[in-house]
Amino acid sequence: MLRFGGDYNPEQWPEEVWAEDLRLMSEAGVNMATVAVFAWSRLEPEQGAWDFAWLDRILDLLHEHGIDADLATATATPPPWLVRAHPEMMPVTADGVRLEFGSRQGYCPSSPVYRTHAVRLARTLATRYASHPALKMWHIGNEYADHTLECFCEVSAAHFRTWLEARYGTIGGLNAAWGTSCWGQLYTGFDQVEPPRTAPGPVNPAQLLDWRRFCSDALLELFEAEKAALREVTPDIPVTTNFMSILHGLDYWKWAAAEDLVTDDAYPDPADPESHVAIALSYDLMRSLKRQPWLLLESSPSAVSWRAVNAPKPPGMMRLHSLQALAHGSDGVMFFQWRQARFGPEKFHSALLPHGGTATRGWQETLQLGRDLKALAEVAGSYEQAQVALVLDWDSWWGLEAPESMPSDRLKLKELLLDWYRPLHARGIAVDLAPPGRDLTGYRLVIVPNLYLCTEESAKALSAFDGELVVGPFSGVVDAADQVHPGGAPGPLRDLLGVTVEEFWPLHDGVTQATTAGAARTWTEWIHATDAEVVARYRGGELDGRPAITRKGGVTYLSCRLDDPAPFLDTVLARADVHGVEVPRGVEAVRRAGHLFLLNHTTDPQRITLPQAGTDLLTATSRQGEIELAPRDAVVLRLEGRK
Ligand code: GAL
Repeated sequence: MLRFGGDYNPEQWPEEVWAEDLRLMSEAGVNMATVAVFAWSRLEPEQGAWDFAWLDRILDLLHEHGIDADLATATATPPPWLVRAHPEMMPVTADGVRLEFGSRQGYCPSSPVYRTHAVRLARTLATRYASHPALKMWHIGNEYADHTLECFCEVSAAHFRTWLEARYGTIGGLNAAWGTSCWGQLYTGFDQVEPPRTAPGPVNPAQLLDWRRFCSDALLELFEAEKAALREVTPDIPVTTNFMSILHGLDYWKWAAAEDLVTDDAYPDPADPESHVAIALSYDLMRSLKRQPWLLLESSPSAVSWRAVNAPKPPGMMRLHSLQALAHGSDGVMFFQWRQARFGPEKFHSALLPHGGTATRGWQETLQLGRDLKALAEVAGSYEQAQVALVLDWDSWWGLEAPESMPSDRLKLKELLLDWYRPLHARGIAVDLAPPGRDLTGYRLVIVPNLYLCTEESAKALSAFDGELVVGPFSGVVDAADQVHPGGAPGPLRDLLGVTVEEFWPLHDGVTQATTAGAARTWTEWIHATDAEVVARYRGGELDGRPAITRKGGVTYLSCRLDDPAPFLDTVLARADVHGVEVPRGVEAVRRAGHLFLLNHTTDPQRITLPQAGTDLLTATSRQGEIELAPRDAVVLRLEGRK
């Protein structure tokens, strides 16, 4: 079954509305609702004074209508009484400002008060609803790190010190790892170490890197604490928390390992004609995290309310974007939110049931999507590994984007990923993401857009891969402590790549450097091909004639960021024997285990020659040869000969 539904906030509505909600949910084919995400103050208006009656009623109603509950632990907004009793639990900024109540996610991730009460709430809910037949999934917290990723209070500082002590054992170990002999930062005790608060100048980058790791871990500890309470009471109910696409702040490889099901919230900007490409990359990450189907838990039916200008989704786009998530491995499409709010910061955020009710095109599109999802039920649960993988590592990302200490602040990991993803996507080639230490067996082509921080283990895993490997610039530079590898880049990748890097030559915005493989931008390097063939050279300028791209066995090193990597990519794809689906620009072709999704993201009709005959599940018709796809329309083919 494919999931269909969304966040349902009945606590914002008088009870008279609930019956209509449920009737319309049934009419639309909704089969899952996320409830109680921000309901703590409603469930427990004063400490220990529980009010469960309304939630009992809602869960009963959902069940009576055949709708499953993704029940939140309701810990995303601690209630006013808790904050007033413990003002120290509110987060503090790097400048020392303590934030106030009045929004959501108002908690210091390290606060023992918040943790104790959150776990108490989770356990209370689990105990009350353990045997409720509507309960099918636990939704812990909400979008961790959305508003509160870090806190610089004294409690957080103490937690950070404990984390550091566990990592380094002795203060000498920390001094060595952080290189504190630089700028006179030698510590003689952990009690002297602080979070990287606003300082007179650039903060030690090793300290910042550990802080990023710590902040991701501190929030994960919170998730784990709630999960442990749920597991004790409801061991068989799967747990999740909704991710936020490709998020810098949290190491999702680590987080996903703690979840039963990966779920994601995705909000591509309807005003950006290319937004479906970046969002496809994040969907591919979601599928790759646990190498299994995932679930789009939040998306917007039309406009959001948090951009400066919030464009609605034109007719057809909600359906198209929903089918896109399925194509990339989601087992359903859920939304924020069911009924459009009348008050609060999200009153202008779209919903499955708009302010105007059922007399709206929005509602018609909700009904249409419900029908489409039924027609596509057979894709649920299907998964297959792609032939191409992009390597993504959070440690390396954090190191690469450290402020004020790099050769250039222009190398941004998401952009580097997209440099490769964009042409792969345009060619209809399925892509997985992988952490650097993962077993890469089965892939034909692995691209490492950047691996600034590269450990011996990562280098070993990459060396063990026997397909085509492409490594991007500024890789193998530092170790896990952000210290430059002895002898410089590419450190532990030196033998694999057969090059040494002598100097980094970053380029200013708008400046390009010619190479025999096309123009480079942002970044170039002065390298030596010690044990590799030179396949492209710099032309003109200070690097004239020097190697730009090298190859050793099946391993290519690019010392620059190519302005247009597509021609180079085509030669690598040919070598790796990887083939996509030929489609016009703006049409997305995605294979999902025996099915081919063709999605027309343009506003023009498009003609496509099908690579294989099949049955279009949306119209229940056989299709072969050339077809025409209307603007923003899609076909989902069950390919012949495959179930
Ligand atoms: C998400 C959040 C939801 C809602 C939504 C609006 O970030 O989890 O609660 O605020 O955005 O787009």
